[in-house]
Amino acid sequence: MTDKLWGGRFTETGSDRVQAYGASIASDQYMIAEDIQASIAHAKMLGQQAIITSAEATQIVAGLQAVRADFESGVATLQIAQEDVHMNVEVLLTEKIGPVAGKLHTARSRNDQVATDFHLWVANRLPHIIETIKQFQKTLLQVATDNQATLMPGYTHLQHAQSVTFGFHLLAYVGMLTRDVERFEFNMQHTKVSPLGAAALAGTTFAIDRTMTADLLGFDDVYHNAMDAVSDRDFAIEFLQSAAILMMHLSRLSEELILWSSYEFGFVTLSDAYATGSSIMPQKKNADFAELTRGKTGRVYGDLMGLMTVMKGLPLAYNKDMQEDKQGVFETYTTIMDALFVFDGMFATLQVNRDVMSESTHNDFSNATELADYLANKGLAFREAHAIVGQLVLQGIQTQVNLQDMPLAELQKASELITDDVYQILQPMTAVERRTSVGGTAVTEVSNQIKFYQEQLGE
Ligand code: ARG
Repeated sequence: MTDKLWGGRFTETGSDRVQAYGASIASDQYMIAEDIQASIAHAKMLGQQAIITSAEATQIVAGLQAVRADFESGVATLQIAQEDVHMNVEVLLTEKIGPVAGKLHTARSRNDQVATDFHLWVANRLPHIIETIKQFQKTLLQVATDNQATLMPGYTHLQHAQSVTFGFHLLAYVGMLTRDVERFEFNMQHTKVSPLGAAALAGTTFAIDRTMTADLLGFDDVYHNAMDAVSDRDFAIEFLQSAAILMMHLSRLSEELILWSSYEFGFVTLSDAYATGSSIMPQKKNADFAELTRGKTGRVYGDLMGLMTVMKGLPLAYNKDMQEDKQGVFETYTTIMDALFVFDGMFATLQVNRDVMSESTHNDFSNATELADYLANKGLAFREAHAIVGQLVLQGIQTQVNLQDMPLAELQKASELITDDVYQILQPMTAVERRTSVGGTAVTEVSNQIKFYQEQLGE
């Protein structure tokens, strides 16, 4: 017999290095609060069901609370030799209350225990994520509100396409973030389900009350099949999927910030607090935090692919492979919370160079669609109008004159339908103002969109 909690049938233990390889305490120690929370619920239920005496239950609960206090004050130490958080807590509990601690593991296995802890860990954090995304949405909405009438080029293929406003552009991200919130809310449904009481894989012979522990722990339901309960990690994968999509959104926004703050664009200036310099080139101001977020997105995708790959070949039920499930989730949680925090500050302090943005819409051919629409409104088939304007654009490129700067006689050579009123139509702000269709970039429409999102955010 060895000194492990499971040591009865063992005569030898591995070297320190071998034990460290098998241990998960380095990562699952971050679930100690949830582990103790779940054990307290389990002990109360054992007492209630008279599986242990109520005096024993009371003793165990008090002991667990004392272990929690020791851990919080830094007195308790966790040991690799005890392998994981569950056995470390049991050993600490035994030190506190003696052999009665051994009754806590009645009608329970580490398989349902770890699943329960992990569900609780994710469930406890989802509301913070949702709140933090909403905070960032509010900041974006503020910048959008301040820039409802800030002209900027709208792009397709990263080429000037049609003029829009900066406020309109930012609202696209507010929409993405709303879907992120909804994904994390949905993630909650599969996370708030209790595996506790599934025991190792097949349920237990003890008369446990799974609903009682589920209620005590704030779960909405219990897993209806014990084998599913101990082998399911869908909730963690869904968490990582939601996080990966959120990071994809932040990464696209990062890419735009990097472009916008470049010398060539000059659309925005990042606050010094959200940029860094170069150790050799004194003039440099780099959008490091945006770049880093774009980079960290790769790691979050990796965490998602990592867990999907861990799970894909596992026969039911628990396999030790599943011990590799937590690190990526913990790491991803920190990454998304930090990224949202940084982005919130970065946008709250962002300087928008309105003149540069606006100027950029006046020196291009992004009003070509306006002219084609103008001709189509005067009765030409749109295809024909498109061809005529295409010719004018070619001519403009060759002579370096924009459409709005061409003399009327020149324009009329292309089509007699063009009259003096065309110049108003060719103004970028007119192009914006006329796009009043639902979801369009017109200032009035953007203000409707802002109202919609403000209401959604309860503002
Ligand atoms: N440390 C383990 C994990 O994280 C706990 C479950 C161990 N169960 C077992 N049957 N070995 O997965």
